[in-house]
Amino acid sequence: MTEPVISVRDLRVWYGSERGPVRAVDGVTFDLRPGETLGLVGESGCGKSTLGRGVLGLLPRGAKLAGEVNYEGRNLVTASPKAIQRLRGPDLGLIFQEPLTRLNPLLRISDQFEETLRTHEPGLSKQDIRHRSIEVLRAMGIPPTRYRAYPHEFSGGMRQRIMIALALVLRPSFVVADEPTTALDVLVEAQIIGILGDLRRNFDTSLLFITHNLGIVAEACDRVAVMYAGRIVEQGPVTEVFARPQHPYTRELLRSTISLSTTGLHYIPGAPPDLIEPPSGCRFHPRCPSAMRVCPEQFPEQVEVGPQRVECWLHGPDELVPEGGREPLVREEITVADEA
Ligand SMILES: Nc1ncnc2c1ncn2[C@@H]1O[C@H](COP(=O)(O)OP(=O)(O)OP(=O)(O)O)[C@@H](O)[C@H]1O
Ligand code: SF4
Ligand SMILES: [Mg+2]
Repeated sequence: MTEPVISVRDLRVWYGSERGPVRAVDGVTFDLRPGETLGLVGESGCGKSTLGRGVLGLLPRGAKLAGEVNYEGRNLVTASPKAIQRLRGPDLGLIFQEPLTRLNPLLRISDQFEETLRTHEPGLSKQDIRHRSIEVLRAMGIPPTRYRAYPHEFSGGMRQRIMIALALVLRPSFVVADEPTTALDVLVEAQIIGILGDLRRNFDTSLLFITHNLGIVAEACDRVAVMYAGRIVEQGPVTEVFARPQHPYTRELLRSTISLSTTGLHYIPGAPPDLIEPPSGCRFHPRCPSAMRVCPEQFPEQVEVGPQRVECWLHGPDELVPEGGREPLVREEITVADEA
């Protein structure tokens, strides 16, 4: 097996708040190999963007980061901001829904590509720069005839695609794409997925792909990680996880998508928890249809189930579970609701 490009170990991110720390990412571990695409899914507020930003050291002021993000022999969590800054662009790429950097309205598109490439690859000739830029712009559906236009001459959607092209022209080895397609139409979405596919085929780019669209995950990702309340509760090859989900949350999430085209929308009852005071034990227990006695008592162990890693008391040897722990959980709320 090839060495991972990025190896994340027990990553934690806290935000400060008046009520106490918001544990948005709370002990996340995964690897990403060259050319691999990992889809990151989960309901809103489960910590996906925080994880994507945390991996790249791009958190807002005041956020705290702990654990390891190993990249080329160093831990980015403890690296200096300067060292990370140097890696950004040529090594670590970002595609965010709301770009952190904007196109400079005073410069032609050609100048912005030239500036980016000259900064990071000073050896390139003017012709190489033009060739590389036009290639990636074309892949994003921007015709070469527009290369010397100014940002205001493009529509919002086109500007967004130009931003993505600008992030990809440096051929970074690792890219975080945080919902790059939600604001785009279907055609553009297909183009972006196409270009991301080209990148990994041609340059072995590894991708952390954050999305709510499980269809895109099925189409474009090799592996999937399912996030709930700051933890990855299940991860494994996409085909396996989608065919045989092992965590109740994954099942519910899949059901809420699949039923869109069948019997109507299935909602997972309740909502993801407050990350300042998450539920005890398994964080999914208040909403879990399979909850057992052990679930609110103890944090579940991570176990391997086939090719998947799953954090749920339904799996693993009986020795792990206290006596009677796998009996169904009796919920108090149910008796109250019966009165009505
Ligand atoms: N700057 C911040 N300060 C305080 N709390 C924050 C901040 N950013 C995010 N959070 C909180 O951290 C948690 C995780 O947020 P995050 O944006 O990472 O979730 P997400 O999975 O990306 O959601 P979505 O699918 O809606 O994009 C949420 O409870 C959110 O309110
Ligand atoms: S540990 Fe228990 S509550 Fe959590 S997902 Fe598994 S069965 Fe459900
Ligand atoms: Mg997000």
